[in-house]
Amino acid sequence: MKVLVVGSGGREHAFAWKLKKELYGDDELFVANGNAGTAQIAQNVPIQPDNILGLTEFARRNKIDLTFVGPEKPLVLGIVDSFQEYGLPIVGPNQTAAQLEGSKVFSNEFMERYDIPHPRSIATDTVKQALSVGDQMLRTYGVGVAKADGLAAGKGVIIYRNRKELENAVDEIMVKNRWGNRVVMQEFIEGEEASFIGFTDGKTFLPLPYTQDHKQIFDNDTGPNTGGMGAYARAPIITDEIENKIMSGIVMPTLRGLQQDGIQYKGILYFGIMIRKGEPYLLEYNCRGGDPETQPAMALLQSSLLDIGYAINEGKLNRIKPKWSPQSAVTVVLASQGYPSDEYKKHLNREILGLDRNGVIISHAGTMKLPDGRIVTSGGRVVSITALGNTIKEARTAAYSAIGKENNGIYFDGMLYRTDIAAKALRA
Ligand code: GLY
Repeated sequence: MKVLVVGSGGREHAFAWKLKKELYGDDELFVANGNAGTAQIAQNVPIQPDNILGLTEFARRNKIDLTFVGPEKPLVLGIVDSFQEYGLPIVGPNQTAAQLEGSKVFSNEFMERYDIPHPRSIATDTVKQALSVGDQMLRTYGVGVAKADGLAAGKGVIIYRNRKELENAVDEIMVKNRWGNRVVMQEFIEGEEASFIGFTDGKTFLPLPYTQDHKQIFDNDTGPNTGGMGAYARAPIITDEIENKIMSGIVMPTLRGLQQDGIQYKGILYFGIMIRKGEPYLLEYNCRGGDPETQPAMALLQSSLLDIGYAINEGKLNRIKPKWSPQSAVTVVLASQGYPSDEYKKHLNREILGLDRNGVIISHAGTMKLPDGRIVTSGGRVVSITALGNTIKEARTAAYSAIGKENNGIYFDGMLYRTDIAAKALRA
């Protein structure tokens, strides 16, 4: 059989790592376009994830049996629709369904329509409107959130606490127009975030072990937002009571709403949740697995990801009862100096040492192999280290002891990482 993974980050390496364990003999695993880590377990294909025609043609010519899509961009661009034109099985939502992530205006109208608890939001189309709504938010709450309508790789959400910051946020989104020219002005909800992610065929929803991401670059949730600096499972913030509230108040109304709107959603659906005083609110949908949340989830998945993929594709997910390891998993991301600003581009091509470290799962992201065999940094987030343990504490100790020169662990010059991944779970 032939399987393709689309993408080049840690999430895609984690999918490929899991799939590789399930493939035999003549089976083939491809990753487009992959990284130096996926090259060790699969054939990297030099086609960019947003080259929909190129990927469709590759899958058609090579008779790919099943494709998993990692990042949001190809989904929003319609890779699923394109594959389906040729009868190529693929795991992911189609272009209409992917709007849940691709357009914040679309997703907020959807939450409104189906009465899904979310921050109060108003979509605006002009700078004047945005500033006027922002002023009202400042007067009412003393703080507000401006969200770009389109995809922004985690950068399109700006919190403002005064008029100057409001003007800067609106300027960044609407005038510089980097992520679509509409903006959703939103109430700021203070609380604790959790990632509630699951496989779905539009009818059945199978949650992954609950995770918590660490979005800011520095310890104690300080500094600018990133794609995610670490994750762990299972997050104790999701108690049974909160889980029930999320399932009944957010997940099931979403599936019913999609059905009512005639939208078929197949793939992974990610609910970005904020929990305030025991009540969950939906901040956003993502139409894919999280990065780095996928890394601990794949480390814990004992059932076949291939079977799950086929079941999603065929709309028979109700037949799957996934088995998860009862252990805990902690993932720590190592990033390049200067990340998340573009400054990191001045600090690339640093040799990465210790990649043969045993006892942890190393998922590559921004890595590249040189002709002399050395693996060097080539991106903002470079690798993520996942360790398992009987408790979160054990998994955390195992992950951190595989990092750094002093541990003979994974290391590169200028390496940046948070030292408090999963610390919240230990305080809980
Ligand atoms: N780690 C956050 C995300 O994948 O969106």
